[in-house]
Amino acid sequence: MGRYAQIIGWGKSVPNHVLTNEDLARIVNTSDEWIRTHTGIRQRYIATDPRETTATLAIKAAQEALRVADVPASRLDMIIVATASPEHIFPSTASLVQDAIGATRAGAFDLSAACSGFVYALSVARGLIVSGSAEYVLVIGSETLSRLVDWSDRSTCVLFGDGAGAVLLAASEVPGGILSTVLGSDGSGGNLLIVPAGGSRMPACLETVASGMHYLKMNGREVFRFATRVMARAAQEVAEQAGLTMDEVDLLIPHQANRRIIESAMKQLKLDESRVFINIDRYGNTSAASIPIALCEAIEEGRIKQNDHLILVGFGGGLTWGAAAVQWSVPLPLPETPWWRAAQRSGSFHMAQMRSLGRRALRRLQGITVRSEEGNGRQPQPILEESLQKLRAHLWKVKTSKEEATSSEEKTT
Ligand code: ACO
Repeated sequence: MGRYAQIIGWGKSVPNHVLTNEDLARIVNTSDEWIRTHTGIRQRYIATDPRETTATLAIKAAQEALRVADVPASRLDMIIVATASPEHIFPSTASLVQDAIGATRAGAFDLSAACSGFVYALSVARGLIVSGSAEYVLVIGSETLSRLVDWSDRSTCVLFGDGAGAVLLAASEVPGGILSTVLGSDGSGGNLLIVPAGGSRMPACLETVASGMHYLKMNGREVFRFATRVMARAAQEVAEQAGLTMDEVDLLIPHQANRRIIESAMKQLKLDESRVFINIDRYGNTSAASIPIALCEAIEEGRIKQNDHLILVGFGGGLTWGAAAVQWSVPLPLPETPWWRAAQRSGSFHMAQMRSLGRRALRRLQGITVRSEEGNGRQPQPILEESLQKLRAHLWKVKTSKEEATSSEEKTT
């Protein structure tokens, strides 16, 4: 019996703040006309609230994907976050997502392949599922590149936007899902799209900050030339591997970096706009989030139906590129979720938050107890012991009610 990796859930999240081309023209020497004609972008979403981060956007998109699939977070085996703007160098953004959504059984890691990251992550997830190592894998592309952009550099700051998109992959015996993937890299072009400082090669210091080396630098013309070369080729290759001709492809979902790059790929692949999804005008380039955000919008707009063949294709820093051929298996549109089901799912996410807070508090108290035991060989203070006991009881309660909720959900499914 074959084993396939099917997309069964999806979700996206963007910050509230919209930055239009007119807004940008007040910050740098540019114009709406230049940005529209050179890139196709009209506006983008920017995380202006410091509490909104790559992780918080990823968490919202992940929760939505789990809601759509109606799968509890406790069933996840792996969480992969593709991002070029991770929350930290470590811990991984994926681990923060794992904790926030209460994926207590899941492993978690970040994947760095810039704008190609989401397709790379899909490929890894498919491998985990098809090999039998995982049943459920959550794949997220999430970015706040606005935090790495030099807002005085008009050649880059007009291009990028923030956001996140997620898909839930599940093991299935139904043929279809991710049919094939193609990944590539040409590190000789690494310098064409780079954040030079902040890593181990050039650690952040006063000089790197003063010279703006912690900002994203790009050779736009070279990246443009590279993109127009690899996009169509990767799409063609992945279709061939899946046994599809371009005529059999119902929808191409390309990385949204520049409308002219997408149009060049369309021309090379002989696809008209009815078979290509473009939303760059509203989002700008959201890097690893752009393909999953576009996938969600294509579903919302009724552009995807059961058994459609899709090609997802991206390129980016590294240099990297990647494509995935997908046979869509979920019937669309989805039936309405009953209110109580949605409430149950939200409840489980609140429970995850409480669990996380409890674990942090327990760790702190344990630390204090151990220190006080070690210091001067004194006995632990009774007050701390008492607090620890209370906290353990609280965590036990959270765990039991969560297990009850999960088992009642499983019974109803
Ligand atoms: N407003 C007005 N003028 C501008 C702006 C702007 N925002 N930006 C550049 N210009 C000027 C330049 O200074 C130049 O002026 P000059 O001729 O007097 O020197 C002129 O416009 C033309 O500049 P080009 O760089 O040749 O413009 P081009 O048509 O190539 O467009 C762009 C630039 C949009 C950056 C394009 O090269 C591009 O999209 N490249 C690909 C970028 C990309 O996809 N990057 C993301 C990769 S994904 C990832 O991994 C993050």
